Amino acid sequence: MGASGAGKTTLLQILGTLDSPNSGELMFNGKNIADLSSKALARFRNEHIGFIFQFHQLLPEFTAIENVCMPALIGGKSMSESKMKALELLDTLGLKDRASHKPAELSGGEQQRVAVARSLINSPDVILADEPSGNLDSKNAKEYG
Ligand SMILES: Nc1ncnc2c1ncn2[C@@H]1O[C@H](COP(=O)(O)OP(=O)(O)O)[C@@H](O)[C@H]1O
Ligand SMILES: [Mg+2]
Repeated sequence: MGASGAGKTTLLQILGTLDSPNSGELMFNGKNIADLSSKALARFRNEHIGFIFQFHQLLPEFTAIENVCMPALIGGKSMSESKMKALELLDTLGLKDRASHKPAELSGGEQQRVAVARSLINSPDVILADEPSGNLDSKNAKEYG
C-alpha cells in the first residue's frame, strides 16, 4: 500500500524482473536473478511468476481466451491443452460466455478478470498483482480480487 507515485508499480516491476534496479540484488530461491541471460530470465518469468498489471495489458488483437492461453503457449503447452485450462479459468472467474470477445468488447472489470485468469494459467509460484481489484465492482472485487 502507498500513495499514488510512492513506487508500488516500480517495486513490482523490479520484483517481477521486468525492470532492473539501479542498486541492490534480487534473489529468488537463493539465486541472484541478475546472473540470468535475458532468454533464461524470460523462461524463469514464464514458469514462476504470474503478473496482474495495473492496466491489465491484454493484447487487443486477441480474444479473451487467446490472451489467457498466451503464457501457456509460450511455455510450450499445446493449443488444445492451453484452451481447455483457459476456459476452466474463465469459467471460474465468471467469464465463460465472454471467452471469444476481444478486450475492447469487455468492461474494465471483465478485462481485469481475464488478466487474473492469464496470471494463473501456468500455476506460478508467485503472483504479482498491481492494484488488481481497482477496476472491479465491490462484489467482484470480493470474489476475485
Ligand atoms: N518510466 C519511468 N521513468 C521515470 N520515472 C518514472 C517512470 N515510471 C514511474 N516513474 C516515477 O516513479 C515514481 C513511482 O511511480 P510508480 O511506481 O508508478 O508509483 P505507484 O505505482 O505507487 O503509483 C513516480 O514518481 C513516477 O512518476
Ligand atoms: Mg502503480
